[in-house]
Order: sequence, then C-alpha cells, then structure tokens
Amino acid sequence: MTAFPDVKQLLAEDRADGSIYSNSDLYDMEMDRIFMHNWIWVAHRSELPEPGQFITTFVGSHPVIVSRDRQGVVHVMLNRCRHRGATVCEQKHGKAASFVCPYHGWAYGLDGALRGVPHQDGYTGQLDKSKLPLVNLRVEEYNGLIFATFDKSIMSLEDWLGRAKPWIDLFMKQGAYWPIKTMGEHKFTFPGNWKIQLENTTDAYHFPIVHKPYLDSVDKETEDTFSFLDGEGYVEDLGHGHSVMVMIPDLVDLEEDLDRPIPMRFEKLAEDLSKDHTPQEVRRIVRAVGGTGFNLNLFPNLACSMAFFRVLRPLSVNETEIRHIAIGMDGGPAIANQARLRLHEHFQGPMGFGTPDDAEAWDRVQRGSLAGRDIPILLNRGIGHEAKRENGNLYSDVSAETGMRAAYRQWFADMTEENEA
Ligand code: FES
Ligand code: FE
Repeated sequence: MTAFPDVKQLLAEDRADGSIYSNSDLYDMEMDRIFMHNWIWVAHRSELPEPGQFITTFVGSHPVIVSRDRQGVVHVMLNRCRHRGATVCEQKHGKAASFVCPYHGWAYGLDGALRGVPHQDGYTGQLDKSKLPLVNLRVEEYNGLIFATFDKSIMSLEDWLGRAKPWIDLFMKQGAYWPIKTMGEHKFTFPGNWKIQLENTTDAYHFPIVHKPYLDSVDKETEDTFSFLDGEGYVEDLGHGHSVMVMIPDLVDLEEDLDRPIPMRFEKLAEDLSKDHTPQEVRRIVRAVGGTGFNLNLFPNLACSMAFFRVLRPLSVNETEIRHIAIGMDGGPAIANQARLRLHEHFQGPMGFGTPDDAEAWDRVQRGSLAGRDIPILLNRGIGHEAKRENGNLYSDVSAETGMRAAYRQWFADMTEENEA
C-alpha cells in the first residue's frame, strides 16, 4: 500500500516544501482529491452550439466526451466503453448522431445511453443495456463556462465560483456587443509540475523580468501599459482557491469610460471599423480587442487571462499540458477578431514573445526541484501588505503572492480533506 505523504508537513502560510513539484505519491493524491472532487472546466458554450456537436477533453486524467443532445442538453461522459474500457471517440470535435466504439461496435447515444450491441444474442440474456451507459458526470454551466465533476455531493458550481463570478462576468464583456466564442487553440507541454503554471497566472512579479523581450518588442505606448508593477494594480483572494490579478485597472470594465483616446496601436483598426460602425461602437470594439486588464485564476486549472483561456492538464508529476484558447466576438467584425488573434500570437503563440520565455523559467524550477527538497518554495511576498475588503477578500499590491497563497490554501484543504479555503 502506498504511504501517502503527510501534507501537513509540506505547506506553511509562507512556504511549501521543495518536493511539492516532484513527489509522485503527492501527485497521485492530487489527481484523486483535487481533480476528482472539484468542478473542472471542460468547454465554452460556443464550442458546441448545435445538437449533435461534441468535443473530447479530460477531467484530470480521465478522458471525457462533452456532447449536446437533440434536446440541447449538455452531457459530459467518461470516454470509456462499458465493454472493455476502450476510448470510444478520439476525434477532437465534430458532429455525430451516436458514438460507436471501434473495438466491438457498441453504440452509445449523445446522452451516453447504450443503444446497440452487435450480435447481442450471444449474451444469452446476460446483458442489460440500460445498466451500461457511458458514465455521466455532473454538469453545470455559468455564463458560458461548462464545468463537470465526478463528485455528486460537492456544492453547486455557482457556490463554488462564489466571489469569482463578477470577474467571470467582466471577462465575458470581451464580446463587445456579441457573445464571446472560441477561435481555435494551440497547446504545448512543458517538463514541469502543474502547480508551477497554477502559481504563474497571478505572478506579476516575473513579468518585467521574464517578459523583457516582449516589452522590447512593442511600441512605447504598449510598453507603458504593460509596465504595471508600480501601478495601481492589485491581487485578490476570491475564496475556494480562486484569485484575480488586476494589472491594468483602467481596462477591467471594458464598457466604462468609452471616451478615452484610441491607443496608437489600434488607430488603423479604428479607422477601418468606422466605415461600418458609429464612433461609440468603434471605441467599444477596440477596447474589447485589447482584452481585459486582469488574469482570473479559477482553481485548479482554468485561467481567464487578459484575452484568452488557459487550461492546464497534469500529465505526470513532471509534465503538464497547456492549452491556450483564443476567444473573439461571435458575430463581430472579422477585422476585430483578426486583430485579437494577431495580439494573441504575438505573446502566447508558439513563436510569440511571451510563452516560450515562461516555459523556460518553469523548466528551470522543475529541474531545480528534482535536484532535492532542501530548498523550500517561498510564497511570502506581500504577506505584510495584505488588507481585507468588506466582503472578506484579502488583497495586496499587484506583485504580491496573495493569489498563490489562495490556491495553496484550497490545495491544502482538498488534500487534507479538513476544511475549505
Ligand atoms: Fe468497446 Fe468492446 S471495447 S465494444
Ligand atoms: Fe509570464
């Protein structure tokens, strides 16, 4: 029997043990206690707008199918055949009337019901199809974000998101006058533990250091916008491990203060948009193109980051997959969506000026961690500066590690099953 690590010895308010990125027993515990018993994001509504549409993805280490049935209901089903456990569908997305396992041809409906078994008479009455549907997970949706969980007893999704909900609502304003839609994704793996990326989403401290090449690649006006470390930004604990890092407070609510000047880098776009849109509409669309001024970290693995979704999937204790999903305006001007994609590529793209530099830093953290547990992971930046808002949220200046401490409090609660953050 595996002797699980004593989690209480691994985490204090201001630091974590050096083994948290490299202990494989701890990783096994995380996959069970965190990824099997929390709400895990699986899709955005725009990825399956019509009956019959589906995508395949993962909840923790488990492959799942997310499908919309003929009545429009979304199902999230374990992508494992009830015969021998094969994955039933390996297409990334598509439209289907049913899912047929390629091994012996068992056929499942869009809701997972087992509809057909070839040569069923061979079972001589021992097979009750009604008892063998694809395993359905619990599914709930908030403002277009579809989550699923294996745990039938945890709180509702809305309660779980709690004080993060107003930030999700703000994030969705990037559709300008339209709903938001996903516009494709790219993914990569890095040779490091998933928590390194979890920490990074609200780590403003690294930005001017790691992302100096990005800052050197933009015009002065853009550089000033992104030199936020000494600005009015803040980072705030939203409960349940969620947090928000506000880098550019002026951009938080994209519908406010639409009279400000158009940034230099969007002047040409504004001119082109003005052929079909009023000046007020042009300003609203241009603001949306630039994205929100914050990163929202939803524990354990979704970031709503400036102008895209980032989803992380642990592959092993030493390897993590990251998906960057571009978002745009569903029905909005094509030139505005194209501009958003170009900005996305500039920073997040595989050849961009941001992500490859982040990945190098995470790789170094992991390699350091593999060398031994003697160096603790410090999480203490800004502890002395934290204050409390009326709703109880802890907050501090933007480069504080308040968001990381929030995530680790929920991590600890899940891992010890003692209480809630
Ligand atoms: Fe799916 Fe046999 S494993 S039909
Ligand atoms: Fe970064």
